[in-house]
Amino acid sequence: MEKRVTVLAGDGIGKEVTDAAVVVLEAVAKKYGHTFHFDHQLVGGAAVDAKNNPLPEETGASCEASDAILLGAVGGPKWDNNPPALRAEQGLLLLRKQFDLFANLRPVKAVSTLIQSSPLKEDIAKDVDMMIVRELTGGVYFGTPSLYNDEEAVDTMPYSRKEIERIVDKAFEIAMKRNKRITSVDKANVLATSRLWRQIVDEKKAQYPEVEVRHQLVDSVAMSIITSPKDFDVILTENMFGDILSDEASVITGSLGLLPSASIRSDGFGMYEPVHGTAPEIAGQNIANPAAAILSAAMMLTYSFDMLEEAKAIEDAVYGTFEDGHFTGDLTKDNPLGTKEWTEKVLQRLQA
Ligand code: NAD
Ligand code: IPM
Ligand code: MN
Repeated sequence: MEKRVTVLAGDGIGKEVTDAAVVVLEAVAKKYGHTFHFDHQLVGGAAVDAKNNPLPEETGASCEASDAILLGAVGGPKWDNNPPALRAEQGLLLLRKQFDLFANLRPVKAVSTLIQSSPLKEDIAKDVDMMIVRELTGGVYFGTPSLYNDEEAVDTMPYSRKEIERIVDKAFEIAMKRNKRITSVDKANVLATSRLWRQIVDEKKAQYPEVEVRHQLVDSVAMSIITSPKDFDVILTENMFGDILSDEASVITGSLGLLPSASIRSDGFGMYEPVHGTAPEIAGQNIANPAAAILSAAMMLTYSFDMLEEAKAIEDAVYGTFEDGHFTGDLTKDNPLGTKEWTEKVLQRLQA
């Protein structure tokens, strides 16, 4: 198969981790007889610096012409005091909105070789396997009015029935392929959007009688993710709650540097990116963990290209590398490998 991928490295460790994902994809293409064309474009702070625009037109056009987008991360202190339209993060938010990437899937799976790196006790972290389904194009991230001045600031959190219905449907579809349990997370004791959310989840569950549905308030979920993470199968939630809970859940597996994500549209087009950010304090030092970006590339093969065997080959190579005792510095203090050296081990496994 021939596929075109727009690569948006972004800022900070974004370049190091997407470089790793691209070499792994190249190795997979070689092994399985595919051709991937990579078109590298600017986004985020790098694009603000070069073009005074966090999502330049050429970048949008390249994404439009591609079969999928692979993104590193955007943001950093350099752009934090810019006006909203020139913030690095704006590039990412515009991509999500313009390409209607409403369904953000963030799988959290603990594997035994990494349990020693988890901050939780082994019996709590062991066998955790959940999928966070985060709504990505609505809510407080995009609501208007939004304003900020020295005297007042306003954010607005709107959700329409249509926006909620499509992400709820997605969560039920995913639950049907997993353990058929959904925890719908909201703040219905305070927020009107959460009450509509609950109502729609309850309406939809009639169509999926096999799926067990539980509603839980977000503050309580923040606790349960730590005390009993194995209780979760699919976590369904709105944009901001999903952002917060996924960083929390990620570390159960050992490190935020392990968590991949897919942001997909209803026709299967998607953007694939690690859950972590630009980690400015470790950028450019060849110490970032590239596993989240590499596993995001595997999600791209699964969700956008239907290359299931190839995706599994990547996952096996990543987890096999951990089994071989090779770790980056976020997972061990004991002779960690650098980003490139660890990626090299993954490539060796893929080529074996
Ligand atoms: P962060 O995710 O960049 O870093 C949080 C912590 O995790 C830091 O200690 C960092 O060193 C560590 N870390 C993250 N990824 C790692 C990796 N792959 N390997 C090893 N360690 C890793 O979050 P932050 O510090 O809150 O944000 C920094 C910048 O990144 C901000 O500008 C923020 O807006 C941006 N950000 C971007 C994205 C994205 O583009 N998707 C996501 C989150 C944050
Ligand atoms: C993420 C990030 C983004 C978000 C930021 C950078 C806009 O934290 O992808 O998790 O909040 O969605
Ligand atoms: Mn986040």
